[in-house]
Amino acid sequence: MVEAVARRMQEMVAAVDYPYATGLFETLSGGKRLRARLIMMIAGEEDAAVTLAAVIELIHAASLLHDDVIDEAQLRRGTPSVNATEGSKQAVMLGDILYSKAFSELTQFDARIAKSVADAVTSLSVGEMMDVQMAKTFNEDDKRYLQMLYLKTGVLIEAAAKCAALLAGKDADAYALYGKNLGIAFQIIDDILDIVSDEATLGKPAMNDFVEGKCTLPYIHLYRTLEGEARERLLALHGRSATTEETQWLKAGLESSGAVKAAYAQARALSDEAKRAVSGDAPLEAVIESMMQRTF
Ligand code: FPP
Ligand code: MG
Repeated sequence: MVEAVARRMQEMVAAVDYPYATGLFETLSGGKRLRARLIMMIAGEEDAAVTLAAVIELIHAASLLHDDVIDEAQLRRGTPSVNATEGSKQAVMLGDILYSKAFSELTQFDARIAKSVADAVTSLSVGEMMDVQMAKTFNEDDKRYLQMLYLKTGVLIEAAAKCAALLAGKDADAYALYGKNLGIAFQIIDDILDIVSDEATLGKPAMNDFVEGKCTLPYIHLYRTLEGEARERLLALHGRSATTEETQWLKAGLESSGAVKAAYAQARALSDEAKRAVSGDAPLEAVIESMMQRTF
């Protein structure tokens, strides 16, 4: 079913009628297509659901193109990022083409759906701006961090689930709550995988968040368990590349202090709340479990 979404995205981009952009788009890896799968699971395979899924996936792809420019990331989903191969200017413009085309297509939906998705993109951008701002200094405030995750990742998944429910005449609030919690839990698992996984599995460098200045939940928990010199050592490592020995010290501390486990427990609590919101919908409950157990 996601093949139909990929085809629809391809048609939308082809209609822009600029072969260089189309060719570049075709080099992008599709990723997990979590948002598209969710929409189809909630709204079925009708034509409008395929179009909505394609719109949301184009917006997501655009946001990752811009994010890789902002993060100066060289790898995305195991292959060189567009900014690495074509330069940042073209990566930004391809992102602009994808998301403006998505917005043109969005105008065919009813105003509640169009507004919900458009508002989500504003939140996404605010979340990304907060992320960049927060990376400048060590952040120990978990609530502020979770708010940023909600904006950066949760809101678009929340909008996807809510709009799919609106299309299908289902309870929009329940599905929105499901999407919101799934999205935040998804990003917490991402933060954990940065620590416990490796580059070959992730398709991007591991132990890289803290180097980029990102004080993810495990680092916030670690900070709270440390005192004196150890805490100073952690703060001194924030936002700069570390030696192998320093990386090992960080990784061991994150695991032995229970910091990773504490973050996992927070993702679990959000997942449980998501499952309760759609209780009885077995396929959507299964999505939560596979997301919690994912390794990349
Ligand atoms: C990945 O974060 C980034 C996002 C989920 C959102 C990025 C949003 C924007 C750039 C706003 C602009 C939006 C549009 C539509 C142009 P990450 O860096 O933590 O994850 P990563 O490790 O996968 O890069
Ligand atoms: Mg990034």
